[in-house]
Amino acid sequence: MAIPPMFGPAFDADPYPAYDWLRRNAPVTRVPLPGCEAWLITRYEDAVTALTHPALAKDPALGSPEWRAASLGLPLDHRPSLARHMINADQPDHPRLRRLVSAAFTPRRIAGLRERTQQVTDALLAAMAGKDEVDLVGDLAYPLPIAIICDLLGVPEADRAAFHHHASVIDSAAAAEVEAISAATDALEAFLADLVARKRTHPGDDLLTELVRRPDITPDELTSTAFLLLIAGHETTVALIGNGMLALLRHPEQLAAVRAEPDLLPDVIDEMLRYDGPVRNATWRFPTEPVVIGGQELLPGEPILVSLLAANRDPAAFPDPDAFTPGRVGEPHLAFGRGPHYCIGAALAKIEGEVAIGSLLRRYPDLALATDPAELSWWPSAIMRGLFSLPVRLNRPKG
Ligand code: HEM
Repeated sequence: MAIPPMFGPAFDADPYPAYDWLRRNAPVTRVPLPGCEAWLITRYEDAVTALTHPALAKDPALGSPEWRAASLGLPLDHRPSLARHMINADQPDHPRLRRLVSAAFTPRRIAGLRERTQQVTDALLAAMAGKDEVDLVGDLAYPLPIAIICDLLGVPEADRAAFHHHASVIDSAAAAEVEAISAATDALEAFLADLVARKRTHPGDDLLTELVRRPDITPDELTSTAFLLLIAGHETTVALIGNGMLALLRHPEQLAAVRAEPDLLPDVIDEMLRYDGPVRNATWRFPTEPVVIGGQELLPGEPILVSLLAANRDPAAFPDPDAFTPGRVGEPHLAFGRGPHYCIGAALAKIEGEVAIGSLLRRYPDLALATDPAELSWWPSAIMRGLFSLPVRLNRPKG
């Protein structure tokens, strides 16, 4: 039996039948990628095992020579100033780098970010006034998280548009667009080095200033951490709002229920994350010794992808997995990962989702899709799943 195609617009539009096939027939299997092969894990239970396995490392230096030659990660091997961050780190560096950032996510800072999220959302919704149709991705989902992550890091207003451009190239380009990704990465590298230097001479009330003051982080780790937060905290939240609103608008009963009872919103957001989450595959992992998962032996250095989308639709963990059912009980979804690398920004992402989507639903009681979902186009990325645009009608058509 041949593995179904795992790339191209048809797969991107609806990858779930292919994932279903894999879960049933080849739950831990080798898939071809440009320049090398990787293991793909699709069942929930195997995904949890892989994400929490102590012998599956994150340091890209442990990847096989074939994987390294194929340059499928970000082209960072030769860029220590962007690559030395927690998602690429194992013991003992990982817990140290993670603690430095989580210490900066204080309740006071998170409360401030909620307030700021509401302000930015209100301004973006006000800018829609008088229009009948808008693009929810371009007009709300994109500008909100970039504003919040830039506030968190302390990026000056004047630099934000360029920041946004480079980050979106890196996050949503196809893996094969190596040149475009490389140019955007060059630009961000130069920008971040300069920003860190400015924080040393002109400290602010922001996370980067706090990190600059710490003695236990090297200059490369500092710029790398800023880079990771920018990338990880931006496009993911864009996709939560875009994919999530598409799912909700396609399920009128659930939409009516949350409109009638806004307290359901956290459950709705959680189901959006499970049903069609922003992260297609968790980031690369490499065995440090032979490891058996799902009956397959994975050898040292072999690159491994865990399909979070496939695991989140596994019927063994989620009864009737293709139904959009807020308030599910049972297994937690894997949209934020699991284990030591569990998303550090999950609380912030949920705040952004709740504020943006809650405010939108309150302000526009007749919101509806303005296009056939089959016409939508999805990012061709190997790691992320998100929409280029989501046209919606704000008001009931007149007459
Ligand atoms: C809906 C939005 C988001 C989703 C779905 C998401 C998803 C994820 C996932 C799946 C991982 C684990 C990757 C792996 O194990 O390979 C992760 C890690 C991470 N996320 Fe998020 N994320 C989101 C928002 C954010 C935000 C807003 C921030 C920052 C403010 C952030 C920062 C991070 C960081 C720093 C890590 C690495 C943690 C570590 O290596 O210990 N994320 N995220």
